[in-house]
Amino acid sequence: MGDDLFANASAAADFIRSRTSLAPKVAIVLGSGLGGVAAEIADRTSIAYAEIPHFPRSTAEGHSGNLLLGTLNNIPVAVMQGRVHGYEGYSPSEVTFPMRALGRLGIHRIVLTNAAGGINTSYSQGTLVLIRDHINFTGLNPLTGPNDDRLGLRFFDMSDAYSTRLRALAQKHSPTALSEGVYVCVSGPSYETPAEIRAFRTMGADLVGMSTVHEVIVARHMQIEVLGISCVTNMAAGVLPEKINHLEVLQTGKRVERQLAALLTGIVPELD
Ligand code: HPA
Repeated sequence: MGDDLFANASAAADFIRSRTSLAPKVAIVLGSGLGGVAAEIADRTSIAYAEIPHFPRSTAEGHSGNLLLGTLNNIPVAVMQGRVHGYEGYSPSEVTFPMRALGRLGIHRIVLTNAAGGINTSYSQGTLVLIRDHINFTGLNPLTGPNDDRLGLRFFDMSDAYSTRLRALAQKHSPTALSEGVYVCVSGPSYETPAEIRAFRTMGADLVGMSTVHEVIVARHMQIEVLGISCVTNMAAGVLPEKINHLEVLQTGKRVERQLAALLTGIVPELD
Protein backbone atom coordinates (compact mmCIF):
# COMPACT_ATOMS: atom_id res chain seq x y z
CA MET A 1 0.00 0.00 0.00
CA GLY A 2 1.23 3.47 -0.87
CA ASP A 3 1.44 6.18 1.74
CA ASP A 4 -1.67 8.10 0.83
CA LEU A 5 -4.47 6.29 2.61
CA PHE A 6 -7.06 8.82 1.48
CA ALA A 7 -6.08 8.42 -2.17
CA ASN A 8 -5.95 4.61 -1.90
CA ALA A 9 -9.32 4.42 -0.19
CA SER A 10 -10.78 6.75 -2.80
CA ALA A 11 -9.33 4.58 -5.59
CA ALA A 12 -10.90 1.48 -4.04
CA ALA A 13 -14.26 3.28 -3.71
CA ASP A 14 -14.06 4.47 -7.33
CA PHE A 15 -13.37 0.92 -8.48
CA ILE A 16 -16.40 -0.37 -6.53
CA ARG A 17 -18.57 2.41 -8.03
CA SER A 18 -17.42 1.38 -11.50
CA ARG A 19 -18.92 -2.09 -10.89
CA THR A 20 -22.36 -1.16 -9.56
CA SER A 21 -25.03 1.45 -10.06
CA LEU A 22 -26.04 1.16 -6.40
CA ALA A 23 -24.93 3.78 -3.89
CA PRO A 24 -25.29 1.95 -0.57
CA LYS A 25 -25.29 3.85 2.72
CA VAL A 26 -25.32 0.67 4.78
CA ALA A 27 -22.59 -1.97 5.03
CA ILE A 28 -22.53 -5.35 6.74
CA VAL A 29 -19.42 -7.36 7.62
CA LEU A 30 -20.02 -11.08 7.99
CA GLY A 31 -17.83 -12.90 10.51
CA SER A 32 -16.59 -16.49 10.67
CA GLY A 33 -19.32 -18.96 9.78
CA LEU A 34 -21.89 -16.13 9.59
CA GLY A 35 -22.16 -15.75 5.82
CA GLY A 36 -25.81 -16.85 5.60
CA VAL A 37 -27.37 -13.47 4.92
CA ALA A 38 -25.39 -13.25 1.69
CA ALA A 39 -27.96 -15.62 0.13
CA GLU A 40 -30.65 -12.99 0.76
CA ILE A 41 -28.90 -10.28 -1.25
CA ALA A 42 -30.79 -9.56 -4.47
CA ASP A 43 -29.54 -7.99 -7.73
CA ARG A 44 -26.05 -8.61 -6.63
CA THR A 45 -22.65 -7.83 -7.97
CA SER A 46 -19.83 -9.81 -6.37
CA ILE A 47 -16.31 -8.41 -6.40
CA ALA A 48 -13.40 -10.52 -5.13
CA TYR A 49 -11.27 -8.55 -2.65
CA ALA A 50 -8.28 -9.41 -4.82
CA GLU A 51 -9.74 -7.27 -7.63
CA ILE A 52 -10.21 -4.15 -5.53
CA PRO A 53 -7.22 -1.78 -5.50
CA HIS A 54 -5.31 -1.89 -2.17
CA PHE A 55 -7.70 -4.41 -0.54
CA PRO A 56 -6.13 -7.12 1.63
CA ARG A 57 -7.01 -10.73 0.74
CA SER A 58 -8.47 -13.04 3.37
CA THR A 59 -6.89 -16.41 4.05
CA ALA A 60 -8.75 -17.77 7.12
CA GLU A 61 -11.07 -20.74 6.65
CA GLY A 62 -14.72 -19.76 6.61
CA HIS A 63 -14.03 -16.37 5.05
CA SER A 64 -14.75 -16.07 1.36
CA GLY A 65 -13.29 -12.67 0.57
CA ASN A 66 -15.94 -11.05 -1.63
CA LEU A 67 -17.62 -7.69 -1.51
CA LEU A 68 -21.27 -8.00 -2.49
CA LEU A 69 -23.24 -5.02 -3.70
CA GLY A 70 -26.95 -5.59 -3.90
CA THR A 71 -30.19 -5.06 -2.05
CA LEU A 72 -31.39 -6.56 1.21
CA ASN A 73 -35.09 -6.04 1.93
CA ASN A 74 -35.00 -3.51 -0.96
CA ILE A 75 -32.25 -1.44 0.64
CA PRO A 76 -28.91 -1.03 -1.17
CA VAL A 77 -26.13 -2.63 0.86
CA ALA A 78 -22.43 -3.42 0.65
CA VAL A 79 -21.71 -6.77 2.27
CA MET A 80 -18.24 -7.97 3.16
CA GLN A 81 -18.18 -11.76 2.96
CA GLY A 82 -15.21 -12.33 5.20
CA ARG A 83 -12.53 -10.05 6.57
CA VAL A 84 -8.81 -10.26 7.22
CA HIS A 85 -7.38 -10.48 10.71
CA GLY A 86 -4.24 -9.26 12.40
CA TYR A 87 -3.18 -12.84 13.14
CA GLU A 88 -2.82 -13.48 9.40
CA GLY A 89 0.04 -11.02 9.46
CA TYR A 90 -1.81 -7.88 8.36
CA SER A 91 -1.17 -4.61 10.13
CA PRO A 92 -4.10 -2.81 11.79
CA SER A 93 -4.15 -0.32 8.91
CA GLU A 94 -4.39 -3.15 6.36
CA VAL A 95 -7.10 -4.89 8.40
CA THR A 96 -9.13 -1.68 8.42
CA PHE A 97 -8.49 -0.63 4.82
CA PRO A 98 -11.92 -1.97 3.73
CA MET A 99 -13.55 0.34 6.32
CA ARG A 100 -11.72 3.25 4.72
CA ALA A 101 -12.89 2.21 1.28
CA LEU A 102 -16.49 1.84 2.51
CA GLY A 103 -16.29 5.24 4.18
CA ARG A 104 -15.13 6.82 0.90
CA LEU A 105 -17.92 4.92 -0.88
CA GLY A 106 -20.43 6.85 1.25
CA ILE A 107 -21.36 4.31 3.92
CA HIS A 108 -22.94 5.96 6.99
CA ARG A 109 -23.89 2.89 9.01
CA ILE A 110 -22.21 -0.45 9.41
CA VAL A 111 -23.13 -3.71 11.06
CA LEU A 112 -20.07 -5.68 12.13
CA THR A 113 -20.64 -9.32 13.03
CA ASN A 114 -18.22 -11.79 14.54
CA ALA A 115 -17.79 -15.15 16.19
CA ALA A 116 -16.82 -14.79 19.84
CA GLY A 117 -16.09 -16.84 22.91
CA GLY A 118 -18.60 -16.39 25.74
CA ILE A 119 -17.01 -15.16 28.96
CA ASN A 120 -20.30 -14.23 30.62
CA THR A 121 -21.66 -17.50 32.03
CA SER A 122 -25.26 -16.44 31.35
CA TYR A 123 -24.54 -16.93 27.63
CA SER A 124 -24.58 -20.25 25.87
CA GLN A 125 -23.33 -21.57 22.57
CA GLY A 126 -25.32 -19.96 19.77
CA THR A 127 -26.43 -16.84 21.69
CA LEU A 128 -26.47 -13.63 19.63
CA VAL A 129 -25.20 -10.69 21.68
CA LEU A 130 -25.26 -6.99 20.83
CA ILE A 131 -21.87 -5.46 21.52
CA ARG A 132 -22.32 -2.58 23.97
CA ASP A 133 -18.68 -1.59 24.28
CA HIS A 134 -15.21 -2.97 23.75
CA ILE A 135 -11.83 -3.39 25.36
CA ASN A 136 -8.97 -3.15 22.89
CA PHE A 137 -6.51 -5.67 24.34
CA THR A 138 -4.39 -5.93 21.19
CA GLY A 139 -1.98 -3.20 22.26
CA LEU A 140 -2.36 -1.74 18.76
CA ASN A 141 -4.46 1.04 17.30
CA PRO A 142 -5.05 1.42 13.55
CA LEU A 143 -4.85 5.22 13.87
CA THR A 144 -1.25 5.22 15.08
CA GLY A 145 0.78 7.58 12.90
CA PRO A 146 -0.04 10.87 11.20
CA ASN A 147 -3.72 11.81 11.10
CA ASP A 148 -5.38 12.68 7.80
CA ASP A 149 -7.96 15.34 8.68
CA ARG A 150 -9.91 14.50 5.51
CA LEU A 151 -10.76 11.13 7.08
CA GLY A 152 -11.41 12.18 10.67
CA LEU A 153 -10.19 13.95 13.77
CA ARG A 154 -6.91 13.18 15.52
CA PHE A 155 -8.65 12.78 18.89
CA PHE A 156 -12.27 11.70 19.02
CA ASP A 157 -14.79 10.34 21.45
CA MET A 158 -15.43 6.59 21.76
CA SER A 159 -18.10 6.72 24.50
CA ASP A 160 -20.97 5.63 22.23
CA ALA A 161 -18.88 3.68 19.73
CA TYR A 162 -21.54 0.95 19.55
CA SER A 163 -24.53 3.18 18.91
CA THR A 164 -27.13 3.10 21.69
CA ARG A 165 -29.69 4.06 19.06
CA LEU A 166 -28.84 1.16 16.74
CA ARG A 167 -28.83 -1.31 19.65
CA ALA A 168 -32.35 -0.16 20.54
CA LEU A 169 -33.43 -0.67 16.91
CA ALA A 170 -31.92 -4.17 16.91
CA GLN A 171 -33.82 -4.98 20.10
CA LYS A 172 -37.02 -3.75 18.48
CA HIS A 173 -36.52 -6.07 15.50
CA SER A 174 -35.51 -9.13 17.49
CA PRO A 175 -38.31 -11.54 18.43
CA THR A 176 -36.60 -12.09 21.81
CA ALA A 177 -34.61 -9.66 23.98
CA LEU A 178 -30.96 -9.80 23.01
CA SER A 179 -28.18 -9.74 25.61
CA GLU A 180 -25.75 -6.85 25.40
CA GLY A 181 -22.11 -7.25 26.34
CA VAL A 182 -18.56 -5.96 26.32
CA TYR A 183 -16.24 -7.49 23.70
CA VAL A 184 -12.54 -7.79 24.43
CA CYS A 185 -10.34 -8.06 21.37
CA VAL A 186 -7.18 -10.15 21.50
CA SER A 187 -4.69 -10.64 18.71
CA GLY A 188 -4.90 -14.47 18.57
CA PRO A 189 -4.55 -16.80 16.76
CA SER A 190 -4.24 -19.08 19.79
CA TYR A 191 -7.37 -19.21 21.89
CA GLU A 192 -7.04 -17.83 25.40
CA THR A 193 -5.95 -19.61 28.53
CA PRO A 194 -8.47 -20.08 31.35
CA ALA A 195 -6.43 -17.59 33.43
CA GLU A 196 -6.74 -14.98 30.69
CA ILE A 197 -10.49 -15.52 30.53
CA ARG A 198 -10.81 -15.09 34.32
CA ALA A 199 -8.77 -11.88 34.05
CA PHE A 200 -10.96 -10.59 31.20
CA ARG A 201 -14.10 -11.34 33.23
CA THR A 202 -12.70 -9.32 36.13
CA MET A 203 -11.98 -6.50 33.69
CA GLY A 204 -15.64 -6.42 32.69
CA ALA A 205 -15.60 -8.38 29.44
CA ASP A 206 -18.48 -10.64 28.40
CA LEU A 207 -17.15 -11.79 25.02
CA VAL A 208 -13.72 -12.42 23.51
CA GLY A 209 -12.69 -12.41 19.90
CA MET A 210 -10.00 -11.55 17.37
CA SER A 211 -11.65 -8.96 15.17
CA THR A 212 -14.00 -5.97 14.97
CA VAL A 213 -12.37 -3.57 17.44
CA HIS A 214 -9.86 -2.03 15.02
CA GLU A 215 -12.61 -1.76 12.39
CA VAL A 216 -14.86 0.03 14.88
CA ILE A 217 -12.10 2.50 15.78
CA VAL A 218 -11.65 3.35 12.09
CA ALA A 219 -15.41 3.48 11.43
CA ARG A 220 -15.85 5.91 14.33
CA HIS A 221 -12.89 7.97 13.09
CA MET A 222 -14.96 8.44 9.91
CA GLN A 223 -18.15 9.04 11.98
CA ILE A 224 -19.81 5.89 10.66
CA GLU A 225 -22.50 4.66 13.06
CA VAL A 226 -21.79 1.12 14.28
CA LEU A 227 -23.89 -1.87 15.29
CA GLY A 228 -21.84 -4.84 16.54
CA ILE A 229 -23.28 -8.34 16.85
CA SER A 230 -21.39 -11.31 18.26
CA CYS A 231 -22.39 -14.90 17.90
CA VAL A 232 -21.23 -16.89 20.91
CA THR A 233 -19.79 -19.80 18.95
CA ASN A 234 -18.26 -21.40 22.04
CA MET A 235 -17.90 -20.70 25.71
CA ALA A 236 -14.48 -19.17 26.37
CA ALA A 237 -11.57 -21.24 27.69
CA GLY A 238 -12.08 -22.74 31.12
CA VAL A 239 -15.81 -21.91 31.33
CA LEU A 240 -16.78 -25.48 30.39
CA PRO A 241 -14.73 -28.66 30.71
CA GLU A 242 -14.49 -28.99 26.88
CA LYS A 243 -11.68 -27.67 24.73
CA ILE A 244 -12.26 -25.09 22.00
CA ASN A 245 -11.91 -26.02 18.37
CA HIS A 246 -12.21 -23.93 15.24
CA LEU A 247 -14.54 -26.37 13.50
CA GLU A 248 -17.06 -26.02 16.31
CA VAL A 249 -16.77 -22.23 16.05
CA LEU A 250 -17.72 -22.42 12.36
CA GLN A 251 -20.50 -24.98 12.94
CA THR A 252 -22.17 -22.87 15.64
CA GLY A 253 -22.05 -19.90 13.29
CA LYS A 254 -23.89 -21.98 10.69
CA ARG A 255 -26.53 -22.90 13.27
CA VAL A 256 -27.49 -19.28 13.99
CA GLU A 257 -26.90 -17.68 10.63
CA ARG A 258 -30.61 -17.81 9.76
CA GLN A 259 -31.52 -16.02 12.97
CA LEU A 260 -28.83 -13.45 12.24
CA ALA A 261 -30.02 -13.11 8.64
CA ALA A 262 -33.60 -12.47 9.85
CA LEU A 263 -32.36 -9.82 12.28
CA LEU A 264 -30.26 -8.08 9.62
CA THR A 265 -33.08 -8.21 7.07
CA GLY A 266 -35.53 -6.71 9.56
CA ILE A 267 -33.29 -3.90 10.70
CA VAL A 268 -31.72 -2.82 7.41
CA PRO A 269 -34.53 -0.45 6.30
CA GLU A 270 -33.99 1.50 9.53
CA LEU A 271 -30.29 1.86 8.82
CA ASP A 272 -30.68 3.40 5.37
N1 HPA B 1 -11.64 -16.73 21.68
C1 HPA B 1 -11.24 -15.83 20.76
N2 HPA B 1 -11.82 -15.68 19.60
C2 HPA B 1 -12.88 -16.45 19.32
C3 HPA B 1 -13.36 -17.42 20.23
C4 HPA B 1 -12.70 -17.57 21.47
O1 HPA B 1 -13.07 -18.38 22.34
N3 HPA B 1 -14.42 -18.02 19.64
C5 HPA B 1 -14.58 -17.44 18.42
N4 HPA B 1 -13.65 -16.49 18.22
